[in-house]
Amino acid sequence: MLKIAVLISGTGSNLQAILQAQKNPDYPARVALVLADRDAPGLQHARDANIPHETVRPTKYPNRADWGEKLTETLAAHEITPSAGDTDKTARQDGTPAHPPACLIVSAGFMRILPPGFVTRHYPHIINTHPALLPRYPGAHAVCDALTANAKQTGATVHVIDTGIDTGPILRQTVLNIKPGENETSLHERIKNVERPLLVDTIARIANGTLTLPTR
Ligand code: GRF
Repeated sequence: MLKIAVLISGTGSNLQAILQAQKNPDYPARVALVLADRDAPGLQHARDANIPHETVRPTKYPNRADWGEKLTETLAAHEITPSAGDTDKTARQDGTPAHPPACLIVSAGFMRILPPGFVTRHYPHIINTHPALLPRYPGAHAVCDALTANAKQTGATVHVIDTGIDTGPILRQTVLNIKPGENETSLHERIKNVERPLLVDTIARIANGTLTLPTR
């Protein structure tokens, strides 16, 4: 069973989708911790589901590296210790050896750039969902950028986080056609409708070993 920490800043609808998925006993991952950088409204989903949750504000630390250290400590306090050798030793039902990771960090609407030391330490067990078809439109304004560029298509990407901004290895994507005259709010809602199942399914594939994360 894959243990996941979900990092949020906002409404947490992606988190909510994961929590909904894990109500099914066959879903191969469980949220062990919700970690926010602010009083995110999405923390309510953790409270409602009785999931441990913590807020670690970067402004409380003298520098980003120290904030990253605190994030790692907080994960470890909840026994989330993603590392290359940390694999799920549970036997597969079909008898094949299990080598998926035991823990995964999932950034789902976390509106901060993670410190490079934190990313390097946990790579590749740290993934992000992004509301565009990377490598197009990285950054915090991806939906607006796609509209401004008059793109015909956009979508959602789940990728491994590296030390760049939305530059890590792409795991999965869903393509969406942009409607004429569509505004940012409606387009983002439509993207989120495809993003949530994509994220839920990507986590399941990582957990059951059908999607292998890149090596370091
Ligand atoms: C998602 O579209 C995510 O890709 C972007 O912010 C949104 C977060 O939505 N970075 P929510 O907080 O999960 O509802």
